[in-house]
Amino acid sequence: MLFEPFRIKNVAFANRVLRSSLGGRMAYYDGTVSPAFVHFEKRFADGGVAAIISPTISINQKRMSPLEYPSLHDDRFVKPLRHAVNEIRAGSDCRYIVQLGDTGGHSHTSIKPQIEDRISASSFFDVLYGYHNRSIKMSEEDIEAVVTDFANAARRVAEAGCDGVEITASKGYIIHQFLNPVTNRRTDKYGGSVEKRFQLLQEVVQRVRQEVGDGFLFGIRLSAKDFNWLPINIRIPWPPVIWPPRHYFIGNDLPETTYYAKRLEQLGVDYLHIDSGFGFPNPKGSPGDFPDEGLHIFVNATSYLSGKATARAAVYNLVPRPIRKAVFGFGWRFKPAANADFAAAMRRVVGIPIIANGGFQDRSVIDGALSDGKCDMVAIARPLIANPDLLKQFEKGLERPENPCSFCTLCCSHTAVFPLGCYDERRFESREDMLNQVIALCSPQAPFALTGKRLDNDHAETDL
Ligand SMILES: Cc1cc2nc3c(=O)[nH]c(=O)nc-3n(C[C@H](O)[C@H](O)[C@H](O)COP(=O)(O)O)c2cc1C
Ligand code: SF4
Repeated sequence: MLFEPFRIKNVAFANRVLRSSLGGRMAYYDGTVSPAFVHFEKRFADGGVAAIISPTISINQKRMSPLEYPSLHDDRFVKPLRHAVNEIRAGSDCRYIVQLGDTGGHSHTSIKPQIEDRISASSFFDVLYGYHNRSIKMSEEDIEAVVTDFANAARRVAEAGCDGVEITASKGYIIHQFLNPVTNRRTDKYGGSVEKRFQLLQEVVQRVRQEVGDGFLFGIRLSAKDFNWLPINIRIPWPPVIWPPRHYFIGNDLPETTYYAKRLEQLGVDYLHIDSGFGFPNPKGSPGDFPDEGLHIFVNATSYLSGKATARAAVYNLVPRPIRKAVFGFGWRFKPAANADFAAAMRRVVGIPIIANGGFQDRSVIDGALSDGKCDMVAIARPLIANPDLLKQFEKGLERPENPCSFCTLCCSHTAVFPLGCYDERRFESREDMLNQVIALCSPQAPFALTGKRLDNDHAETDL
């Protein structure tokens, strides 16, 4: 079933596997996509995935976080993106969907601390996500500006000739901050009930659809369950309130998120891309080992940005590793097809296609989720970093790559600071081999996989 073609709206997909978003430092400092971006993305198109979903691309010049990630906050980015996407798709059947997002109060990094990285639905203290001490409640004008930023960026995606646009209402980013009851304590039309927390997403969907037109593929990435009880997810509203406790321990669960799914279908969204959790990285969205080493590097690299960031790094440096793992590592473990049952729950309530995300690497697991009717397509990230030619390996009859992804999750925690790549030394003959792979991954000379097979040298000629 994995190799059966599929269609959503007017976009034909050669098979059922999409490369899920992989954000990394692959743009110039102003957010323009670079040849490194093309070289990185092209290997997945050449490896046979039906489509690539881009990294989360910023929509606002003020919140370009992490640094050197691509942006679409201005019309000047359209032409370079068009060239890049044409180059990535050339010679394959691969489609290119751009995912747009705004970090809001979860902004990871900045050159200098700035107030724009603090805005959110309400004021709250967050232990891990975001570098600032406390988020600031947005005014209605701030909200209107975010809706306009999404609409303008979506128009640019269509103008660049991409095959579709996806908006992230997941990952703990700004729309998710409005959906989640613990981070949205508003009492105006944007908060206070399940329906009102949906208001920002509804406005974004309506304005994006107006900009891209009815014929353009438009999907939403949605978290099926927030898991607010995870220690890594702790948020304290400011001023502190403890009622209702359900908001602290659960957040949104399927009763709320299936309601969101139905509303999104009514609003004319073409597909839903389902994961879970709240924040990136998160044990439910990226099921696997606790990436202690990567988080250690991240909190130290960002420690200069605020009092909280300094204290966070100090705690991380002083608390012994086993205790860090016991507290923050609680809930981290690998689960195959981690969100497939959530995808199935969504599929039962809506008629639009459902993409399941997280924990797909074995062929039988992918085929099982598809043939059991849990989802229409699957999106894969880490196993494709480890083996960009995963589909070609399946075609040869392998159930699982010989050198599979271990789901150590280090790539997730390193990506905001270090080059995007595989950081699990166990998968390489030596530490030097691992580092060579990392520093070469976005170059035209990079090994295609760990087999030593190299990309076509034609790709070295990319000129944006
Ligand atoms: C290095 C890295 C960067 C990622 N960047 C993004 C991103 O920019 N946007 C996003 O929505 N998800 C991002 N993700 C999450 C993945 O798209 C995916 O949901 C997650 O890794 C679980 O899928 P997997 O088990 O196939 O890896 C990233 C994951 C990794 C490993
Ligand atoms: S660092 Fe490598 S092995 Fe670990 S999760 Fe990422 S791709 Fe997989």
